[in-house]
Amino acid sequence: MRAWQVHELGEPQDVLRLEDVPEPQAHAGMLRVTVDAVALNFPDVLLCRGMYQEKPELPFTPGLEVCGTVLDGPRAGERVLGGPGLPRGGLAEQVLIPETGAHPVPDDMPASKAASLYITYQTGYVGLHRRAQLKEGETLLVHAGAGGVGSAAIQLGKAAGARVIATAGGPDKVKVCEELGADVAVDYSSEDFVAVVKDVTAGRGADVVYDSVGGDVFDRSRRCIAFEGRLVVVGFAGGRIADAPTNHALVKNYSIVGLHWGLYRHYEPQVFHDTHAALLDLWARRQIDPLIGAELPLEDAPAALTRLSDRGTIGKVVLLP
Ligand SMILES: NC(=O)c1ccc[n+]([C@@H]2O[C@H](COP(=O)([O-])OP(=O)(O)OC[C@H]3O[C@@H](n4cnc5c(N)ncnc54)[C@H](OP(=O)(O)O)[C@@H]3O)[C@@H](O)[C@H]2O)c1
Repeated sequence: MRAWQVHELGEPQDVLRLEDVPEPQAHAGMLRVTVDAVALNFPDVLLCRGMYQEKPELPFTPGLEVCGTVLDGPRAGERVLGGPGLPRGGLAEQVLIPETGAHPVPDDMPASKAASLYITYQTGYVGLHRRAQLKEGETLLVHAGAGGVGSAAIQLGKAAGARVIATAGGPDKVKVCEELGADVAVDYSSEDFVAVVKDVTAGRGADVVYDSVGGDVFDRSRRCIAFEGRLVVVGFAGGRIADAPTNHALVKNYSIVGLHWGLYRHYEPQVFHDTHAALLDLWARRQIDPLIGAELPLEDAPAALTRLSDRGTIGKVVLLP
């Protein structure tokens, strides 16, 4: 079967090689799945560069979330979504998924949307509800709202009854945020989002900030966080990890909340199942609907990951092997 392999670390377009590799073999606790769709994530870029928190041995195949069809055993024919473990990720025609982590896919959900319902939506749901304790009527500020993580957070924030302010780089992405349901959308490449947040909240600020960009965006978010606000550290797509001055958190009485969704696999795996059930319920009521910016063939992986790293994508980019 074909799989994209990384033999040395670097930029995706330089180091990804499409190769023929042996098919994986199902074994106890693991389901062999044919990949119907694999959704890309910023961490796939970081994996290629060797800059992700997880550092698989070389060679490895990136691809952290898939929707596929079980090939063998009692669940053969069942459509599932989940995360194939590294080093044999989802940029391939077949993967192994842990039996306990193979979540059911409803009949009315296309493969591209199912592949996109895993990492970003689970992260958003756990981040907003469990970690940030977002309440109905609160104001949520979502950064990079037209991206994968951000587009999910806008929908989940609206579904939770929050007022959502979204930021994005450029007018086209601002329009996407509005179409996703953001009450206010700000082009943070040309406008001061701090002033906008203060203006539309009558000076109070945002109760919850969902920040997947970090760096200057994190620093400036501290300027518009509300009394008892929660600033959720989701990621560092901007490249710089900000330092948080603890005296500022004290003086303004807010919390800096770390979010590492994948860790629940080790500490409380039931969270994955409960969150999946909650997401399917939101899908059934169409309160969430993954935004698929592009569907591409497997061959396009290097170019698609390069666009993702260059801020050139909207919502989720999905490859169809
Ligand atoms: N904590 C967790 O458990 C968890 C889980 C999943 C993902 N993440 C993290 O969340 C972040 C977003 O992941 P994603 O897959 O959803 O990516 P994405 O949002 O689809 O893409 C990243 C977005 O970040 C913004 N950005 C700002 N500065 C950037 C820069 N210098 N280079 C590239 N992008 C920049 C861009 O939007 P604008 O052009 O609108 O600024 C870009 O579209 C990543 O850092 C990822 O590691 C964390």
